[in-house]
Amino acid sequence: MRIGIIGSGAMGSGIAQVAASAGHDVVLHDTRPEALTRSKGQLGKVLNRQIEKGRMSEQEVKTILGRHTYVEALDGLRDCSLIIEAIIEDLAIKRAVFQELEKLVGNETILATNTSSLSIASIAAACTHPERVIGLHFFNPAPLMKLVEIIPALQTDLDLPATLRELMLSWGKYPVMARDTPGFIVNRIARPFYSESIRLLEEGLGTKEEIDTAMKEIGGFRMGPFELMDFIGHDVNYAVSESVWTACYYEPRYQPSFTQRRLVDAGWLGRKAGRGFYDYRPEATSSRPDPEKNDSEQLRRLCERVVVMLINEAADAMYYKVASRDDIDQAMTLGVNYPKGLLHWADEWGIATCESRLDRLFNAYHDPRYRCSPLLRSLAQNGERFYPEENI
Ligand SMILES: NC(=O)c1ccc[n+]([C@@H]2O[C@H](COP(=O)([O-])OP(=O)(O)OC[C@H]3O[C@@H](n4cnc5c(N)ncnc54)[C@H](O)[C@@H]3O)[C@@H](O)[C@H]2O)c1
Repeated sequence: MRIGIIGSGAMGSGIAQVAASAGHDVVLHDTRPEALTRSKGQLGKVLNRQIEKGRMSEQEVKTILGRHTYVEALDGLRDCSLIIEAIIEDLAIKRAVFQELEKLVGNETILATNTSSLSIASIAAACTHPERVIGLHFFNPAPLMKLVEIIPALQTDLDLPATLRELMLSWGKYPVMARDTPGFIVNRIARPFYSESIRLLEEGLGTKEEIDTAMKEIGGFRMGPFELMDFIGHDVNYAVSESVWTACYYEPRYQPSFTQRRLVDAGWLGRKAGRGFYDYRPEATSSRPDPEKNDSEQLRRLCERVVVMLINEAADAMYYKVASRDDIDQAMTLGVNYPKGLLHWADEWGIATCESRLDRLFNAYHDPRYRCSPLLRSLAQNGERFYPEENI
């Protein structure tokens, strides 16, 4: 099967590498020739490093490189059976590209989009044959991250998700099925990791250093929320928050913050700009407090508040059938490296404990963002859990 990739940026190049490593011939197209040149150069470097580390032979690398073709005209994708679009996150531009594509390819060609936040139904609606359009959402860096969210649109052929699931398994990926809803699974459920942490900071309940320490040391997360937002870039992270919030009809749980907006306004975009929540400039003096001085009870409270909001989000996603219980837990551990599945975590804490922590927040703030998911409430009332006892 010949795979076409549109957009040879970070994601397109990574997805191409994955497909070629799985044995496919891959055709990469980008409107900017320099992006193609860069992608080719990067791939050479990445694969050569694999030889140096003894993970690949020279022959293997030569074979993978030989499976890549770079084309400046969209027409070069004519013979592909599956085309994955990974261009700029702009609905009008994506729709226009899909319309152009349809003029070139046969009716059987599968057209997938790697969009992080746009409606798959809306992209499919631009096509004459919307039934062959589907969301195929990889995570960055695509060669390393196992998760792929498969998102059928309302119009997608009912057999197509299973076909792509098989294909993703053959590429060594872990596919999960998601409903075509804003943020799909990961980008929706992860919102409180950032937004609730910023709330804690804004309320003065903890410093950024304390909240980062709490999430790492008590929660077991690899990075603290402020470190992670600085790493992702505030322009990118803020845009996702705003997009999920507006697409969910201004749901209070997803409301972005002025704190992050001002970082974007100031150009303090995080690591890449030298400044974000933290200062990365060479002259910066480290302001990280001494961990010895942290109040462990305070850290526990900070961590619990963020985690209970994540659990609530995961429960709500399951309640509204965005994805299954297992796919939700796998998505968060494989897509964003959470230390454990959030629904498992809820069972560990006890569903009634989660419910009462959320109710305490709701009673304190009278803010609908703290309302307990109907699923958590009904499980608590019936003394039930997400997983049978022996699965823990
Ligand atoms: N970066 C991430 O972490 C990430 C993760 C998952 C999904 N995504 C999604 O993947 C897509 C691509 O993201 P990225 O980070 O690789 O972007 P990027 O900016 O690194 O690359 C985009 C590439 O698309 C090219 N391009 C733009 N318009 C084009 C067109 N009309 N035809 C052909 N090529 C065109 C650009 O020249 C550029 O090389 C977006 O939809 C994004 O939301 C990104």
